Amino acid sequence: MARRNIAETVKPCHRLKGEITLPGDKSISHRAAIFNSLAWGKAEISNFAPGKDCLATISCLRALGVEIRRGGPQNCPTLLVSGTGKDGLKEPANVLNAENSGTTMRLLSGLLCSQPFLSIITGDVSLRRRPMGRLIEPLRRMGAEIFGRRRDSFAPLVIKGRELHGIEFSLPIPSAQIKSAILLAGLFAQGKTILHQPIPSRDHTERLLKQMGAKLKSDGNFISLSPLLNPLAPMSFRIPGDISAAAYFLVAGAIHPNARIVLKNCGINPTRTGIIDVLLAMGAKLRVENERMEVGEPLADIIVESSELKGVEIGGDIIPRLIDEIPVLAVAGCVARGKTVIRGAGELRVKESDRIATVSRELSRLGAKIGPLPDGMVIYGGKPLLGAEVDSHLDHRLAMSLAIAGLIAKEGTTINHAQVVQVSYPAFWQDLQNLAD
Ligand code: S3P
Repeated sequence: MARRNIAETVKPCHRLKGEITLPGDKSISHRAAIFNSLAWGKAEISNFAPGKDCLATISCLRALGVEIRRGGPQNCPTLLVSGTGKDGLKEPANVLNAENSGTTMRLLSGLLCSQPFLSIITGDVSLRRRPMGRLIEPLRRMGAEIFGRRRDSFAPLVIKGRELHGIEFSLPIPSAQIKSAILLAGLFAQGKTILHQPIPSRDHTERLLKQMGAKLKSDGNFISLSPLLNPLAPMSFRIPGDISAAAYFLVAGAIHPNARIVLKNCGINPTRTGIIDVLLAMGAKLRVENERMEVGEPLADIIVESSELKGVEIGGDIIPRLIDEIPVLAVAGCVARGKTVIRGAGELRVKESDRIATVSRELSRLGAKIGPLPDGMVIYGGKPLLGAEVDSHLDHRLAMSLAIAGLIAKEGTTINHAQVVQVSYPAFWQDLQNLAD
């Protein structure tokens, strides 16, 4: 994301009412594009995530020789992927660019380790600062030749594809990106790949691979995958709405004194719904209705209304289920009565920004009483928020969280580098404006 500054100002509003059409889930979209590229045949994926992260995945797959056509409206595109099968990928003519997207870099690296050619993958300044040793280490155990900058710690990554073998591996951290990279490598390895997770992380990879015919078993913390004998079956489906995008409006509806917001077709995969559990524990008036399953993923409609929130403690096994929602949960903590403590979330330090530092700093500028912990934050809620000038640190989730805080701040809140919402939710500013009176 370019460093030029496009600022947005959010003014306190009298009323927040209406319905939001959520962008397609980013995590599921990456996987739908990658797995269908490896399938044999055509797939149509509707409500594909419109943000730059998933566009980076599409560009990399095209550079690897996959034909992907994009149609439909800008904010909910449809992808037509012509899968090339297991041996169909080609050596890219140039360096692959994952831009700001950790999921693109890590998942594609896992795949590229088994392909019979050389690949180099890089990213923007933020992604080149994020840890890649945790990815390189297990892939090397599978026989991969993968190298990174600063003694195999950071991107750019250089991958010389070769034959791999399955491993039994205990993931040191609950990371869906690392898990998925190993499973993608395992699809084309010799022998089984067995993974043990410390705490289950989001399981979209397991669900979609099963739907597409992979021999994968999962049970709680355990996953076992056999290499592919037959190509994956293409899977046409509609991507559920992104609960990580819904999170901004769930918190907005709960903290605003005059709000009712409806979020239809929202993914409610239980590995992602920590935000709902915490908001309910804080006393939010939130209802989940019309629950159903579509292509192995649960979805529902969610309605949230003005609520009186109280502080809570957030930590332990719930953390991976809400890791991306912690910046906006911190905003809820600022408004809630009493103290909110977040612990066991040290992973926030290696996201698109050091979210423990940046969330604490920027919400303090708005007058919140919030302080960083080594692995979380402490927030003393109930202090009125004031308008101020704040910065997104080029982190999409921080930009959107600050906007939600701005809705209830006394004066206008100016968010610098607001264009970063393009990474996951290009229509965010428009959707917010449409709700506010
Ligand atoms: C993601 C996994 C999580 C999450 C990220 C998306 C995924 O990261 O924070 O935004 O799609 O697999 P980790 O795997 O690093 O926990």
